[in-house]
Amino acid sequence: MHARTIKPGIQSITCVHWERRLFDALIPLPDGTSYNAYLVRGQDATALIDSADPALTAELMEQLRGVDHVDYLVSQHAEQDHSGALPVLAEKYPAAKVICNRKARDMLVSHLHLAEDRIQLVADGETLPLGGKTLTFIYTPWVHWPETFCTYVPEDKLLFSCDFFGSHLATTDLFVTDQALVYEAAKRYYAEIMMPFRKTIVNNLAKVAELDFDMIAPSHGPVYDQPGFILEAYRDWTAPQMKNEVVLPYASMHGSTAMMAKHLIDALARQGITVHAFDLTVTDIGKLAIALVDAATLVVGTPTVHVGPHPAVYYAAHLANLLRPKLKYAAIIGSYGWSSKAIEQIAGLIPNLSVEVVGTVLHKGLPDAATRGQLDALAAGIAKAHAADDNVQTA
Ligand code: FEO
Repeated sequence: MHARTIKPGIQSITCVHWERRLFDALIPLPDGTSYNAYLVRGQDATALIDSADPALTAELMEQLRGVDHVDYLVSQHAEQDHSGALPVLAEKYPAAKVICNRKARDMLVSHLHLAEDRIQLVADGETLPLGGKTLTFIYTPWVHWPETFCTYVPEDKLLFSCDFFGSHLATTDLFVTDQALVYEAAKRYYAEIMMPFRKTIVNNLAKVAELDFDMIAPSHGPVYDQPGFILEAYRDWTAPQMKNEVVLPYASMHGSTAMMAKHLIDALARQGITVHAFDLTVTDIGKLAIALVDAATLVVGTPTVHVGPHPAVYYAAHLANLLRPKLKYAAIIGSYGWSSKAIEQIAGLIPNLSVEVVGTVLHKGLPDAATRGQLDALAAGIAKAHAADDNVQTA
């Protein structure tokens, strides 16, 4: 990609990672991703905001080939996909100071072995004049590490947000041209990266909302030249309100748990509840994370392997526990051959989810009429819980 102008004197240096399919050895990237650095040229000084993943350092440096002098290298986030090229940049621009906050300093030194004497610390609200453009640093912790901050340029009504509002999307589009496509990618990003920090994000949203900007430039995905839509999406995703939805991840070894899951799906649908069901042996775990953003209830379906849950279910339950979605209710269903402690073990895997267990249905062997009746009762119980909860949108 080539450097492209987003505002007068401000260029996006976008490195598109078309082929990347996994982030942090954990997060599926079906649509690839990008790392956006931004070059801000003032009358007196030039700053480069963020950099790129180490894998694309050469591409970043190619785009900066004609830029002989940079005064400031701003590190909004110490994670390597944005800071990884800093050592090479520090070498190319030997007079440049690395701008970061106190929390980031230790990370940059320990993760990148960046020389400490290159670092200039900034505090929340501090400004850095470049001449006609002022960088204002806004501390926004936990989007997505404790050190993260945004950078606001009041003269250009521009907010650089790094991971905050980002989307994992490989595209040649500089700005958002397809809101539905970016909404889905940004929701996936929120679900996998941001959701554990939902309560802090509410505060960060309020903090940046006080600023007067007409553009958000994240460090992943296209730039928002109509930022209202992503702000509204974040408000929706972080609000206490949940949807009248059930997320049902399950695995089945010999068909019994699948039969139970499918009966329950139909029973829930009869109750007017939307179900997002995932066979964990084939599902994209990112889709499961997206479904967890809005749902009120999680139902886990598992067969019994020896006496515990299937390993795929174990993984999904642990992941849901890490992601800390809004979920208010939970249930466990499944089958076993001779004995099972799957329910107790799954319950022990989700301590972070402050959920009320609406019911459990565990059946030996193939489900029968009595089991189907229990599943019908479970669906009715979930519907009743949703209807009685002011935060579940059942209308
Ligand atoms: Fe895009 Fe938290 O790094």
